[in-house]
Amino acid sequence: MEQVQQILSSKSNVLIEKENKYGAHNYHPLPVVLERGEGVYVWDVDGKKYYDFLSAYSAVNQGHCHPKIVKAMVDQAQTLTLTSRAFYNDKLGNYEEFVTKFFGFDKVLPMNTGAEAVETAIKLCRKWAYEVKGVAEHEAQIIVCENNFHGRTTTIISFSNDESARKNFGPYTAGFIKIEYDNLDALEKVLESSKNIAGFLVEPIQGEAGVYVPSEGYLAKAKALCEKHNVLFIADEVQTGIARTGKLLAVHHENVQPDILILGKAISGGVYPVSAVLCNDVIMNVIKPGQHGSTFGGNPVAAAVAIAALEVVRDENLSENAERLGTILRNGLNDIAKRNNLITLVRGKGLLNAIVINCDEESDLAWEICLRFRDYGLLAKPTHGNKIRLAPPLVITEDQIKDCLEIIEKALNDFKS
Ligand SMILES: Cc1ncc(COP(=O)(O)O)c(C=O)c1O
Repeated sequence: MEQVQQILSSKSNVLIEKENKYGAHNYHPLPVVLERGEGVYVWDVDGKKYYDFLSAYSAVNQGHCHPKIVKAMVDQAQTLTLTSRAFYNDKLGNYEEFVTKFFGFDKVLPMNTGAEAVETAIKLCRKWAYEVKGVAEHEAQIIVCENNFHGRTTTIISFSNDESARKNFGPYTAGFIKIEYDNLDALEKVLESSKNIAGFLVEPIQGEAGVYVPSEGYLAKAKALCEKHNVLFIADEVQTGIARTGKLLAVHHENVQPDILILGKAISGGVYPVSAVLCNDVIMNVIKPGQHGSTFGGNPVAAAVAIAALEVVRDENLSENAERLGTILRNGLNDIAKRNNLITLVRGKGLLNAIVINCDEESDLAWEICLRFRDYGLLAKPTHGNKIRLAPPLVITEDQIKDCLEIIEKALNDFKS
C-alpha cells in the first residue's frame, strides 16, 4: 500500500467513542462521522465532503435532504404529527389514493420500517391462505430463498441462513420452506409437494447478500408458477424498489405485478421511516379492525412525506437516470477490472451494483479498500466480506459518476501488488 490512511480528527474520535460507550454494538460502522448531506454528497464533522455510495442502504434514492421532501415534512410537522389510527386524519386518505394508483393496487397497509412491512405481508399471506385459499389452520407454509435478507424481527431471522443474524435468538418461528434463489425447479418442486403453500417471498435482486441478480426470466416464471398453484407472489422491494434498479420496481423489468408488494426505505426518500404493503382487495380485506396495526403507521407526516418523495421520483425521472447511469457505472467498473485484477466481478442493475473483490469472504481487504475510498472522498461498505455495494443516490450526474470511477480506480490501484 502506498498511502497512509486518513487520520481521524479528535472531534470524530470523541463522537465515535461516545457511540461505542453508550450505544449497543449492533453495527460496525466505517470510521467517518457525518453531520450534513445534500444530494449525492455528505460532509463529515471536519467539513470533508464525500460521495455517498451507500445511500443509507438505498433509502436516500432522491438524494440527501431533498428540499421538496424536507418541506413536506416540516410543513406537516408544524401542523399535525400524530393522531394514531384511533381517529381519521386529513392526510392519510389522500396518500392511500396516491400510492395505490402509483403502484397499481386496490389498497395499502401503511407501516414504518421495512421489517414491519415484511411481517405485515407474512400475516396477510397466512390469513389469506386460511380464509380464502382454504388451508387448514396452522398448516400454511411460505417459501423463502437461501441468503435472503428481509429484516431483523424474530420471525424474519427464523428463515435467514446468516448465522450472525440467527444464532442464540431462537426458538424460531415455523412455517417457512427455504429453497435456492434463482432456481425455478426447486420452486416448482415445493409448489407441487403440498397444498399448504400460501406464498413465495422473494427479493427481485438479493441486495444484502451481495447484489445477486437472478437469471433473466426468473421472476416472470416464478410468478407464473405461483399463479398456477394459487400461491401469492410476494415481492420484497424494500431495497430494489422506487427506481433504484432503473424501473420503478425491479419486478417491472419482467413485467410482473406481484400479489403483495413490500416497500420501505426510499418511499420517504430517507427523511422519515415509512413502509407500505400493497395488494388487491381479495387479499387486503382479510384484515379486520384489531387484527394488525401500528401507532405511527399512516401518520400525517409519513403520508405527506411519502407523496412528496414519490413525486420527486416521477418528476425527476429517477428510474431513467438510474438505468442510464447504472450502465455507465458498470461499464466503467468493468474497464477498471480489465486494468486491475482486484475486481473479479461487476454485477447489478440500474444503480444497485456491487464489485466482488479478489479475496475470500473472511479477508478484510474489502474493508481496507472502503477505508481508502473514504480517504479519497467516497463512502461505500462491504457486504458479506468481499463484496462492495455501489449504490449512489439516483440524482447523481454523469460527470459525478466519472469522477467517482476515478476515485474507485485510484483507491484500488493502491492495493495492486
Ligand atoms: C430487502 C429488504 N427487506 C427488508 C429490509 C428491512 O428494512 P428495515 O431495516 O427498514 O427494517 C431490508 C433492509 O435492508 C431489505 O434490504
